[in-house]
Order: sequence, then structure tokens, then C-alpha cells
Amino acid sequence: MTQTPLIIAFDGPAASGKGTLATVIAADYGLPFLDTGLLYRAVGHLAFHNDVPLHDPAALSELAGEITPELLALDALRGREAGERASQVAAVPEVRAALNAFQTGFANQPAGAVLDGRDIGTVIAPHAHVKIFVTAAPEVRAHRRWLQLSKANPALAPGDVLNDIRIRDARDSGRADAPLEMAADALLLDTSDLGIEAAIAAARSLVKDRSGR
Ligand code: DC
Repeated sequence: MTQTPLIIAFDGPAASGKGTLATVIAADYGLPFLDTGLLYRAVGHLAFHNDVPLHDPAALSELAGEITPELLALDALRGREAGERASQVAAVPEVRAALNAFQTGFANQPAGAVLDGRDIGTVIAPHAHVKIFVTAAPEVRAHRRWLQLSKANPALAPGDVLNDIRIRDARDSGRADAPLEMAADALLLDTSDLGIEAAIAAARSLVKDRSGR
């Protein structure tokens, strides 16, 4: 008997752990995985390096057509500045529209898929079989992000990372188009008090319960 494809959506704020959890779940179920934040990071990176201003939506949206696998593999996209630029271009509706078809195509491929982002359960795959909204207290997320970033930048102040997180949360949740919000049928996973193994166990259990697989 062939099973229907399984679509799993992970949404949540910056540094909530959703990317790690989505990667593990995708491997568990043998599903293709898309980190949609990387697409916005790529547009923000191209805009910065090509001097495309934030107030030029048409030019910004054209950058979506220049995303290549090589660009998505760049270490520079994983950094702090890239996250901030991504959040800025992500508030531009034309950029979101330009990235929409690729994401919906990915979500609806015959094999099924796991995607993580901000609007997967609400906009990109509202029909996803499992939606998990991963969150954690801003201080906890900032500390995790600081642990990662301070390896390359030991002078980085923890307070600056918390400030970044608060600004990004406000922008991602406050924008008019596809803001960060929990879908009505999403399951909440608060990882504030969970270590990585416990968070993975909790995510596995939610996916199993909701999908029946
Ligand atoms: O998940 P991330 O930190 O890589 O995302 C970077 C930014 O991209 C985030 O601050 C908001 C934006 N984003 C978005 O608006 N919608 C998505 N589906 C994914 C990311």
C-alpha cells in the first residue's frame, strides 16, 4: 500500500532550535529538507553585495532568481549580519512572492518534505500534516546563538546577541505580509528548559502522534 506524502512544517523565531529539529526529523523519515531562512539570507546577501537598496522591491525580488546551490552553501549566509539582512528583505512582500513558488513546489513534491521557516504552516504549506511551532525564551535563544557565534568572534557581547534577537523577533512578527505566527493547528514545542536530546525526543513524539507514522 502506498502512503500519502508526509509534509512537516517547523516554524518559530530565530535560534529556537527549529532547524536542528527539522534536520533530525527529515533524516528519521527519509524526507527532503528545506531551510527556507537560507533563501531570505541569500537575497539579503545579494542585495548587500550588489548595493540594491531595501526601498527597491522590484530589484530585490529579481535577486531571488539569482539564487544558486553554490550561493546557499556559503558560510557567510550563516552569520549574524546575514540573519539581520534576511529579516529585512523578508519584510518586503515582493521578495516573499518571488520565493513562494520554489518553496511550495518543494513542499508539494511527491516524496513529501520537511521545511523550516516562519510561515510554513500558515502560508507555504497550510495543508502540512504536521506543524510544529518551536520557541524558547529570548534569553535562552540569545545564549544559544552566542555560543555558536562567539567561536568565530570571541569579542561578541552576549547582550548584543540578545538585542539582535529582540529586534528580529519584533520585525518578523510585526510585518504585514506572512508574519511569524503559530498556525491554529500547530503543536507548540517550547525548548526553553530542554537540552538538545530532550528537544529531539519531544519533536519525535509530536510528529509520531500527529502523523501516525
Ligand atoms: O531562520 P533564519 O534565522 O535563517 O531566517 C532568517 C530571516 O529570514 C528571519 O529573520 C526571517 C526570514 N524568514 C522569513 O521571513 N520566512 C521564512 N520562511 C524563513 C525566514
